[in-house]
Amino acid sequence: MKIAVIGTGYVGLVTAAGLAEFGHEVIGADKVADKIRRINQGEVPIFEPGLDKLLAASLKRGNLRFTHDLGQTIQAADVIFVCVGTPPQDDGSADMSQIEEVSRMIAENLNGYKVVVEKSTVPVKTSLWIKRIISLYKKTDQTFDVASNPEFLREGSAVSDFLNPDRIIIGVETERARDYLVKIYDKAKDRVFVTNIDTAELIKHASNSFLALKISYINLISNLCEKTDADVEQVAKGMGLDPRIGGLFLRAGLGYGGSCFPKDIKALVKIGEDLGVNMDLLREADRINFDRIRVYMEKVRKALWILKDKTIAVLGLSFKPETDDIREAPSIRVIKELLTEGALVRLYDPEAAANMKTVFPEDSARVTYCRTPLDATEGAHALLLITEWDEFRTLDWPAIRRLMANPIVVDGRNMFDPQNLRGLGFEYYSIGRA
Ligand code: UDX
Repeated sequence: MKIAVIGTGYVGLVTAAGLAEFGHEVIGADKVADKIRRINQGEVPIFEPGLDKLLAASLKRGNLRFTHDLGQTIQAADVIFVCVGTPPQDDGSADMSQIEEVSRMIAENLNGYKVVVEKSTVPVKTSLWIKRIISLYKKTDQTFDVASNPEFLREGSAVSDFLNPDRIIIGVETERARDYLVKIYDKAKDRVFVTNIDTAELIKHASNSFLALKISYINLISNLCEKTDADVEQVAKGMGLDPRIGGLFLRAGLGYGGSCFPKDIKALVKIGEDLGVNMDLLREADRINFDRIRVYMEKVRKALWILKDKTIAVLGLSFKPETDDIREAPSIRVIKELLTEGALVRLYDPEAAANMKTVFPEDSARVTYCRTPLDATEGAHALLLITEWDEFRTLDWPAIRRLMANPIVVDGRNMFDPQNLRGLGFEYYSIGRA
């Protein structure tokens, strides 16, 4: 069976390499020729731990290759995984233009039975549109099926998430499509869950929105903790001891960013409202998340009063550790507020600096990118911890104390121990901890 993966972004690249690792013959395709050239030269265009090795192994084994000839790729394939972007639009709905474009390409190259698999996160009922477009534009009476196989990859652990999935959701409406997909995931057959297409599409949005809701819930509780002597970390620990709640995704802080949660929760609200269902619960979860920056900046102003002409060290730019991705990263709104108030920022991130430079270009006066965390703290009136990269667990605090103009730390991810930092002479602020 030949597999095509259309789109070589975060999801497509991992899917292509993972399916090849499962032993299948895979062709990855993208319309951006330069991207394909770089990948075929062994370059990995994104930072994703372990992806380089996985790609290299399959390229070397010879059962994975990349091309920018989408037509030829579709013609050669029995199963086509659609992994193109579905970015958010202003009204919260997903921009489906890339999915529609690929559907037309598939119609034009339908030279035999194929299964078209939605891997990208798509609104429920998308499969009907894909079926309609392919039926409308196909030039032959060839048959095809559409299926849903949503991804649950987390950036920073996408490779292990693909190779060791909690579950593989397969949404189909024919036995033939079911057989094709069950065969593809034979290596993880004990985790395969087969259902209908609408259910599979909704499981993805419902899962991400639930995780986002859980994060906003603990952030709401942290706001309560700020008004009492309760410690949100302890509250989360105590809650998590109940297996029905579980301790994961109960970390209070700057809230969720990334290319998924912010987009998916808004998309599900829009889907629900278009279907006449009240989605206030998720609207409120999204509002709480948006409010995290206000809560955090209130602490920064409480610590510094005036931000104008103050030097601020910002540690962590990516939306979470172990990724170079800054999409919807809390750091962007924090830096924007600092610059608007006339502060000077010294930025450090182990991987995401290059991406952040496209948003805040380096300029000698106000925006400096530093090569080390310590460098960022030089002369700083405050240190803002935005992303909890592991390397920040071993900072040389006595050296930082000497380098900073003021020993003030505002921890947006409750990464540090209050007693420890206060014992080292720092004024320490964090989230939901008295
Ligand atoms: C998420 C889902 O986890 C994954 O299953 C889906 O396929 C894609 O979206 P991702 O966005 O890569 O993955 O990162 P994740 O680890 O889920 O974190 C998302 C955001 O939530 C990050 O900004 C993180 O900082 C934040 N977060 C996470 C919290 O604020 N608190 C937590 O307890 C956990």
